[in-house]
Parts: sequence; structure tokens; C-alpha cells
Amino acid sequence: MRIGPVSIPTPLILAPMAGVTDIAFRAICRELGAGYTLTEMVSAKALCYQDKKTIPLMELGPEEHPAGVQVFGSDPVCMEEAAAIIREVSRADVIDINMGCPVPKIANNGDGSGLLKDLDKACRVAEAVLRGAGETPVTVKMRLGWDRGSIVCLELAKALEELGVAAVTLHGRTKVQMYGGTANWDYIREMKQTLSIPVIANGDVFSGRDAARILKYTGADGVMIARGCFGNPWIFQQAKAALEGKEIPPLPPLAQRCDTAVRQFELAAQYKSERIACLEARKHYAWYLKGVPHAGYWKGEISKITTLEDVYRVTAGIKRELRDADEER
Ligand SMILES: Cc1cc2nc3c(=O)[nH]c(=O)nc-3n(C[C@H](O)[C@H](O)[C@H](O)COP(=O)(O)O)c2cc1C
Repeated sequence: MRIGPVSIPTPLILAPMAGVTDIAFRAICRELGAGYTLTEMVSAKALCYQDKKTIPLMELGPEEHPAGVQVFGSDPVCMEEAAAIIREVSRADVIDINMGCPVPKIANNGDGSGLLKDLDKACRVAEAVLRGAGETPVTVKMRLGWDRGSIVCLELAKALEELGVAAVTLHGRTKVQMYGGTANWDYIREMKQTLSIPVIANGDVFSGRDAARILKYTGADGVMIARGCFGNPWIFQQAKAALEGKEIPPLPPLAQRCDTAVRQFELAAQYKSERIACLEARKHYAWYLKGVPHAGYWKGEISKITTLEDVYRVTAGIKRELRDADEER
């Protein structure tokens, strides 16, 4: 797939997820087969007001290419300036506009999925970002529409294509659905048939097989994996095998999964403070242990982690228990 002049080596894409897809998790997902990654969404307003906390969110890893920075906002003047700042400050290959975020604080302010209520504005925002982005290709990630009665994705995507947007990602849910119900892949298929630019399919890809299924069903050029990679970056390996018609590799043994989790947290601590990295590790580590029998005690310990030393201690405990269980067998 190509996004403008940018070549994406595989159709497997890691979704932007605020509070989840930081530089460390993105690095792990790329190692395991994600061919394209996006940052968590950054606020155009924060960029324009030179908020210092926003710049690190746009940092890309040393080998993180091709990669995009995602921006949200709805004021065209601010969005143009934000795009210019992203182009200048980050090494992003692509700038992606968020037209899907359903969080009330964002959407009720007209940002994210709020733009689905005002297509003229959505187009003016895209034009502004295209101006600010210069040569950098611009893409849009959207939902179906605000609610069931106002499905606007096809009309909006067509207009965006005409303006020069280089690709569109469609999450097959409305704003009102938030993350509930099931994603509707039919609109993604219809969008693929309607547009000439690449279409990326998103929604309810929870396994390697789902990734192959959504690509086949919709004919989309790429698949974006979101909640399906929580604690499971191996989903990219499994999706690759599914796409190649090969046997899907099982998850690595728990001890190895713990090692990957620890490596992710060590990497995060290099980019943020150790404390922030470890507070964020609590949620990730619990996901890594999802479905592990008798993990309840360890999840309790994980919810108290504040230092890397804590991470090592808990991990050693989990591994010790695994060894003991093996010896008993
Ligand atoms: C915790 C969380 C954070 C998210 N943050 C963003 C974001 O910053 N930008 C964005 O475009 N979508 C965001 N999303 C939406 C996902 O990228 C994706 O569109 C959605 O989860 C649907 O895919 P899924 O059904 O496979 O999870 C977020 C989703 C979750 C669960």
C-alpha cells in the first residue's frame, strides 16, 4: 500500500490509541510485524499554544518509519499551524486527522467525531491541514457518522479524496456507539468501492484471523488493529501468518511474554520518567496476563508498581510460580 509517496511494507497497521500506543509499545508492535504506526492523538490547540507536554507525544523511535502523527482539532487556522509544527518538529511521514474520537470532552467541542456533524467544517479542516502539511501526505481517520440516522462516511470520504487527502481509515461504528456493539464492515467495503485512494479497515479485529477476514471481506488496502493488541502485540505475527495462509503461531510461553512486557516498560522508562512509565505499565501488564490462570494475586501486585525494581520483583515472582507449577507436574 502507498500513502501518497510513502510506501507501507505490509497491510498491518497499529491504531493510534491515547494512553496505550506510546513510543515503547509501538516499537514492540513493529518488531512483531506492524508495518505502519501512528502516535497517540495530539491536540492542535496544545501545539499552537506551545504546550511542552505535547512535543514528546510526537516523538518517533529511531527506526520508526513509515509512521504518522495524529492530530485533533476543528479550528482550521489552528489546524494549519499545528500541521506546520508537526512537519517541522516531528519526523512524521504522514499527518493523520482524527475525525472519530467519541469522548464527550472532544466530540462535544466539535473535534474528533464532532466533525462528522459538520461536513463543510470537516473539509475546511482537511484543506487547512493539507496547506500546513506541505509535501507531507495527509490522511483522515473517521467513524461512520454521528449516529445511525446520519451515516456520512461515504460522502465525507469522497469530498476529502477530491481535496487531496491521501488515504482514509474507517472505523465501522458511529460516534453514539462508542466502542459497543459490533463494527459494521459493509460500509468499509462500500468505501473501498467508492474511493480511488487507499482505504484502511478498522473495528473489531481481535485475532490474526479477524485481520485476514476484514481484508478479504472489505477489499481494503490495510487493516488497523486497536484493542486486539492490548497485551498481545503477537497479534501482528499471527495476522501475518493468517494473511499468508500459514498456520497461526501460538502465543509464546508466559515467561517469554513477561520478558516482552518488561522490555516494553524499560523502553518506556527511557522516554518518560521511570515513575510515569511504571504507572502506565500497570494497565499494560494486567493485559499481558489476561487469561492466565491464578493471575489474580499478581494483578494485585501489578496495581502497586511504581518503579522498575517493582516490575522486576513481580516478574520474578510470576516466573518462580511458573517453575514451581512445572515441577509439580
Ligand atoms: C484506549 C483507546 C484509545 C484510543 N485513542 C485513539 C486515538 O488517540 N486516536 C484515534 O483515532 N482513535 C483512538 N481510538 C480508537 C481506535 O484507534 C480504534 O478506532 C477503535 O478502538 C476501533 O477498533 P477496535 O474495535 O479494533 O478496537 C482509541 C481506542 C481506545 C480503546
